[in-house]
Amino acid sequence: MHQLARRSTVLIALVTIALGPTASLAGAAEPHPKPTPKSGAAEPHPKPTPKVAVIGTGGTIAGVSKSKVSFDDYEAGKLPVSRLVRDLRPDVDRIAAVTTQQFGNKDSNNYSIPEYRRLTATVDHALKYNDGVVVTTGTDTMEEFAYWLDLTVRSDKPVVLTGAMRPWTVIGSDAPANLYNAIHLAASGRTTCFGTVVMLNDEIHAAREVRKTDALRLNAFSSGSSGELGVIDQNRIRVNRAPARAEQCGKSGWKTPFDLGRIARRPLPEVEIAYSYQGAGPEAIKAFADAGAAGVVTAGTGAGGISPAMTEARDDAVKNGVLFASASRTGSGAVYDPHVRGVIGAEDLTPQKARLLLLLSLATTHNEHRIQKWFDTLGTAQFRPRR
Ligand code: SIN
Repeated sequence: MHQLARRSTVLIALVTIALGPTASLAGAAEPHPKPTPKSGAAEPHPKPTPKVAVIGTGGTIAGVSKSKVSFDDYEAGKLPVSRLVRDLRPDVDRIAAVTTQQFGNKDSNNYSIPEYRRLTATVDHALKYNDGVVVTTGTDTMEEFAYWLDLTVRSDKPVVLTGAMRPWTVIGSDAPANLYNAIHLAASGRTTCFGTVVMLNDEIHAAREVRKTDALRLNAFSSGSSGELGVIDQNRIRVNRAPARAEQCGKSGWKTPFDLGRIARRPLPEVEIAYSYQGAGPEAIKAFADAGAAGVVTAGTGAGGISPAMTEARDDAVKNGVLFASASRTGSGAVYDPHVRGVIGAEDLTPQKARLLLLLSLATTHNEHRIQKWFDTLGTAQFRPRR
């Protein structure tokens, strides 16, 4: 009996070593045992626990369901982000020293460009005092949140966005695992210089490439033909590729031209999206131009085609100083510079991301060639050619 007890103690010790410091058995709240230094040996300098700030903005991840099985029947943006992190304790404390900040608590669709601007300032401020930041958002416009932050945050420390397809309070929710993995990824420093990344469903995606491709499934996010950057398999963070901007790490070119601190505090220009389809009329473009839009992105068919009526309306609007970006409604592939005055090619960007790049560009300059150049670089997933 005595022998058996000793054997099981040895077995538990071996399992603890094999699983490593971040592993814990479900529900167990034991503090991680500190290794005792051998007498005479110098005590190793303990690595400081990475500091991660979690900024909550709402969405399904903070949602409360009617019952434990009402997967689609719930209110988004109800639980405070501090409560979400508290539910992950004590496990999350083993990977990061986490603090929380409530930026807002609502649907992702309810955020405006002025609020986006404040979010950038909040993230950059948090990165001054932390090793990484996690932003929780609704998934519907998460790709826009991500690309905006990618274009505007000045720090090269990790920024990880996460959310969930099922609310926090249903059985089988993806919310707690997504938040835990996002904190783990931010704490690891593995995406330093990657800009903003999105972490959902165990997958890591680059902000520029990621898009929501399903309204309901848990695997709702995809990076199209570029593919994801990597995956998280429990304690293993596997980063298989980097976004092209990582090439500029440590150089001045890493930062985008869009320093919001230098852009005047007046409202940013209005940029709208007009969708083309069989027989599409001129009304949307006309209305946007009449309402004072500085730019319009066309979500064209194939490689950027738009209907004859839309083309006519576009020509008129260009004469009145509106700048157009031609994007594709297909969801992938590039629209190149069409060499038409007043129209630039949106490159690999989806219409909703092209809108953000055009908006920030027009807040900075009206030089069409300069803006096309930004689309050719910031708007593509390409590494720069070696000379
Ligand atoms: C939202 O985008 O705020 C609601 C939907 C979601 O988070 O999945």
